[in-house]
Amino acid sequence: MAARKAGAAIFAAHCALCHGDDADGRGRRREGLNPPPADLTLPPWSESAHAAGTFRVIRRGVARTPMPAWPMLTDEQIWDLVAYLTR
Ligand code: HEC
Repeated sequence: MAARKAGAAIFAAHCALCHGDDADGRGRRREGLNPPPADLTLPPWSESAHAAGTFRVIRRGVARTPMPAWPMLTDEQIWDLVAYLTR
């Protein structure tokens, strides 16, 4: 479960601002974001079957939304995030 723990730390550093400390979409910055940050505790993002899609979304971001791409994260860091978000 080392990946999950590393993912939690990366999430707190880069994602919690928008997505919330608990990944439920209730971050401090969500006010005014359109569309609002996704609740990542809900399917499909929380489902391990969706791991590859979650990886792709984090790497590339979501066009025409405030969800940024993350070119500065390594593949390993993104897989750690996926491990943290999926169950
Ligand atoms: C600037 C605010 C912001 C930050 C920072 C941010 N996100 Fe997002 N994220 C969003 C928004 C807004 C959406 C909703 C996009 C949509 O509805 O299509 C989103 C959607 C997502 C989705 C679901 C995509 C979808 O199509 O619904 C995932 C997975 C995700 N973010 C992961 C992350 C991770 C992991 C990080 C940190 C590396 C992160 N986000 C950082 C704003 C942010």
